[in-house]
Amino acid sequence: MSINSMVENLRKNKDLPDADLKTLIESAGCEAEVETALFLNADEVRKDYYGIDVYIRGLIEFTNYCGNDCYYCGIRAGNGKAQRYRLSTEEILACCKEGYELGFRTFVLQGGEDEAFSDGIICDIVSQIKALYPDCAVTLSLGEKSYDSYKAYFDAGANRYLLRHETANAEHYRRLHPADMSLEKRKQCLFDIKEIGYEVGTGFMVGSPYQTTEHIIEDLRFLQKLQPDMIGIGPFISHQSTQFHDFENGALHLCLRLLAILRLMFPYALIPATTALGTIAGNGRELGLKAGANVVMPNLSPIKFRKQYDLYDGKICTGDKAAKCRVCIEGRVAAAGYKIVVDIGGVKREGGRPAGK
Ligand code: 5AD
Ligand code: FES
Repeated sequence: MSINSMVENLRKNKDLPDADLKTLIESAGCEAEVETALFLNADEVRKDYYGIDVYIRGLIEFTNYCGNDCYYCGIRAGNGKAQRYRLSTEEILACCKEGYELGFRTFVLQGGEDEAFSDGIICDIVSQIKALYPDCAVTLSLGEKSYDSYKAYFDAGANRYLLRHETANAEHYRRLHPADMSLEKRKQCLFDIKEIGYEVGTGFMVGSPYQTTEHIIEDLRFLQKLQPDMIGIGPFISHQSTQFHDFENGALHLCLRLLAILRLMFPYALIPATTALGTIAGNGRELGLKAGANVVMPNLSPIKFRKQYDLYDGKICTGDKAAKCRVCIEGRVAAAGYKIVVDIGGVKREGGRPAGK
């Protein structure tokens, strides 16, 4: 089958046999042909569903304490060199205020798995944000919690939850995480989050150590099962104080092909052009948008702590004020041919409801 017919089938059926997915993902010796077909179709599909709209999410990295020890991550518990910080409720609310004035209508509270933030504290923060900004969505990204904790945050007003599965292959998962973490548990969390009623976001790293094309295909199959509202992928980037410091970063073009494949398989999905993508290439986020992404997540965290949320080496946007990031991202989105909207920006499933309503 020709490359063009494979891409057309993918668009039409939102699916392809493994062997064809492998051909597109690897695009060995025919990168230009595959990418031309993928990016063109992905952009058309994204325009069908979302026009040229790009949603902005204000990211608030509120703690870099973490009880987990994911081998790839710069803020893992075992990294004694990490300088730890926590934001107070007041500091978090100040980030939201600044973000609101800059046109953000979704706040993403992201942190390590930090026991200092009890369920009560998280619920209090969420309900305060919702009371102050009833026209905004609150997204949480706090890692693995019990069903009851997820439910409590939801009842307090949280609308969305992000938890990347990282890899859908159990053996690969074990090579990236210590023995006390499991893919089963991770998946259970995602199904719990979905059942409770959150809009759910998941995703995986591209080019993580030991990843194969077959693993990536398993990731796509897992996404088909979960049917998440948001899918975040970004390149693995090595961090000097992890055991993976000598591994190569994920490849830009592999990320771009996967973004386009995701857009064709999940036309309704909210797909960010991630900071990690912008870190491995100066124009990575613009290229991501052109390949099918429709969300950007500029940083609203206080400047003085930005560098400390050090997931991987070279992370961009650690020195710029929120207002500057906002202007910068607006220019980048416009240069790529799209437009930022000041909107809560819910997922557009056929007949579905927008998030936070
Ligand atoms: N490279 C790229 N992404 C990383 N993340 C954590 N460490 C790294 C790294 N070294 C990603 C994980 C996590 C998200 C918050 O950041 O996918 O879910
Ligand atoms: Fe914090 Fe993995 S090191 S969640």
